[in-house]
Amino acid sequence: MDDPNDPAPAPLLRVRDLVVRHPGPTRRSAPLTAVDGVSFDVHAGETLALVGESGCGKTSAATAVLGLRRPDAGSVRFEGTELTTLGEAGLRALRPAFQPVLQDPYGSLSPRLRVRDAVAEPLRIHGRWERATGPDQVDALLGKVGLDPAHGDRFPHELSGGQCQRVGIARALACEPRLLVLDEPVSALDPSVRAGVLNLLNGLQDELGLGYLFICHDLPLARHIAHRVAVMHRGRIVETGPARRVLTDPEHPYTRELVRAVPSIHGAPSESSLPAAP
Ligand SMILES: Nc1ncnc2c1ncn2[C@@H]1O[C@H](COP(=O)(O)OP(=O)(O)O)[C@@H](O)[C@H]1O
Ligand SMILES: [Mg+2]
Repeated sequence: MDDPNDPAPAPLLRVRDLVVRHPGPTRRSAPLTAVDGVSFDVHAGETLALVGESGCGKTSAATAVLGLRRPDAGSVRFEGTELTTLGEAGLRALRPAFQPVLQDPYGSLSPRLRVRDAVAEPLRIHGRWERATGPDQVDALLGKVGLDPAHGDRFPHELSGGQCQRVGIARALACEPRLLVLDEPVSALDPSVRAGVLNLLNGLQDELGLGYLFICHDLPLARHIAHRVAVMHRGRIVETGPARRVLTDPEHPYTRELVRAVPSIHGAPSESSLPAAP
C-alpha cells in the first residue's frame, strides 16, 4: 500500500527486489542470476535510463517487467497492480498499457506484413480494430511517428532502419500505452538517424505524458535522454539519481569507472546528433 502521508504521486511502475535467473549452460550447472535484487520506479512523464554494460542484466529485467516471464523473486507493480502474481487473463487485459520497443527494428517486424498491417496488428490482437475507423487510425499512428500514409504500403525491407523503428513505435502506441519499455531502441541505428528517433520519443512523451524505461549502454545518450539514471552492474543497481548528477558527479566507484571511459561526457556530448536534454 502507498503511504497515505506521502504526498508524492504513486509511480506508474514500481519494481522492488527483482530477481531473474536463467538456467546454467548445462543441466548440472547452477542457475545464473542475471538480475539480483533490483528496485526502481518510473513515473508518468518521466524517463528512467537503466544503463550498464552488455550482459549486466538489463534485458532480463525488462522481460520480467513486461510480464514476458515471471521473475524468480520480487515485485513489479504497474499502476498499483502486482503483475508477478497476475493470471494470463489479467495480464492480457493490462498489457496494452505497457508496451515494448525493441532494439532490432527489422527483426521486430514481420517481413511479410506491410507496414499498414503491422500497425493494425496490435489493434486487432487487443480487440480494438474497427473496420470503419481502423484504416484512419493506422494513418494517424503513422503520422504520429513522422511517416506518411504511403509508407503504409511498404514492406519492412523497403524502409530504412530509422523508419522501421518508427513503425515499431507506432505499433507500441497503437494501444494507447502509459509506459514504454525501450530496450536499446536506437543502438542499432546509424548515428545520423538516432537524433530523429530520440526527438520523436521526447515529443511523444511531452504530448502523451508517457513514462519511459529506457535501456541503453551508452552514458552520453542516457544523460541526454533521461531525467533519472539507474546504473546496473552484474545484476544490481549500484547508483540511482538525476541524470546530470549521476553522470557528472558519480558516487559509486563503478559509475566513476564507466564515466571515465567516456571522456566526452565531462563536456559537450560527443555526438552532435544528440537532441537537447529534457
Ligand atoms: N535466455 C537466457 N538463458 C540463459 N542465460 C541468459 C538468457 N538471457 C540472458 N542470459 C544471461 O544473463 C545475463 C544477462 O543478460 P541480459 O539480460 O541479456 O543483459 P543485457 O541486456 O544487459 O546485455 C548474461 O550473462 C546472459 O548471458
Ligand atoms: Mg540487452
